[in-house]
Amino acid sequence: MSLQDTLTELQADVLAQIDQTTELKSLNDIRVNTLGKKGPITEVLRGMKDLTAEERPVVGAFANEIRDNLQAAIETKKAALEAAALNAQLASEALDVTLPGHAVRKGNAHVIQQIIEQLEDQFIGMGYQIAEGPEVEEDKYNFEMMNLPKDHPARDMQDTFYITPEILMRTQTSPVQARTMEQHDFAKGALKMISPGRVYRRDTDDATHSHQFHQVEGLVIDKHITMGDLKGTLLAVAQELFGAKHQIRLRPSYFPFTEPSVEVDVSWGDVDENTKPEDIEWIEVLGAGMVHPNVLTKAGIDPEVYGGFAFGLGPDRFAMLKYGVDDIRNFYLNDVRFLSQFK
Ligand code: PHE
Repeated sequence: MSLQDTLTELQADVLAQIDQTTELKSLNDIRVNTLGKKGPITEVLRGMKDLTAEERPVVGAFANEIRDNLQAAIETKKAALEAAALNAQLASEALDVTLPGHAVRKGNAHVIQQIIEQLEDQFIGMGYQIAEGPEVEEDKYNFEMMNLPKDHPARDMQDTFYITPEILMRTQTSPVQARTMEQHDFAKGALKMISPGRVYRRDTDDATHSHQFHQVEGLVIDKHITMGDLKGTLLAVAQELFGAKHQIRLRPSYFPFTEPSVEVDVSWGDVDENTKPEDIEWIEVLGAGMVHPNVLTKAGIDPEVYGGFAFGLGPDRFAMLKYGVDDIRNFYLNDVRFLSQFK
């Protein structure tokens, strides 16, 4: 067999091997075995010394051509195997960006807190300060200074959790009135404050009662405050919370710390100048009145010079009316399905 035939056969054989190879490692083995120093091509070239001077360059060129062909075939195969390996890796690590993710739920302020903040914004806009007081309160501030001495029958209106005979869970935010009046320096101007917070009563929980609920106290003390100021302020509150079409009505009532005292109703449904008075539905929303002289005196304020109004409203009740909630306990169950409605 001529050297050319040997080389041609070798080429066919190696090309077949390359074709069948599926791994980079065995492809490299083929390269070393075929083109390396101990490989068959080197062997053929070594045998050239037995050729004639005319044959030598022809066979040499042929052998180089075969070697180049095989080298090129190996390179091509190598590139193909590397690409396949990369594709396989990409496929195995693939990230499906079209898969739906996990939504992060955003919380919201509690509905009662929302109402309190709305009122705070409104009253800050009218020049009021926000005052705070303790929930564990002294009998002195919760009752005595609010014109409710120990034997006063009106104490029965507010079933009280006592901690000691002198310490209790505050039954109302009114003690913050006493605390604020005590501190206020009238040389610096009128006292205008609201005080939102939790209050406690020894009630059995049901749809309309909770042993813990909220109040927002309001107090204004200055030299020429009238019931007209109180009514205008409460009308602004009702219209802020329920809408501009709502009216308010004052009915005589009794609180030990105000004289006269009123209960305040808000009109339900739309009311305009054509609505007949007998067609208006009224709902009671809060208690208020002109600050009792005894309350001023106990706080060291001269009732001959100063006077004012006070009110106490229940954000729980406001929220129930505003959103049609029929059970106050919903506000305290921490059921996110209920609470997340008020975004
Ligand atoms: N503190 C009263 C209550 O809890 C409400 C109120 C506050 C009434 C201020 C008049 C003035 O019932």
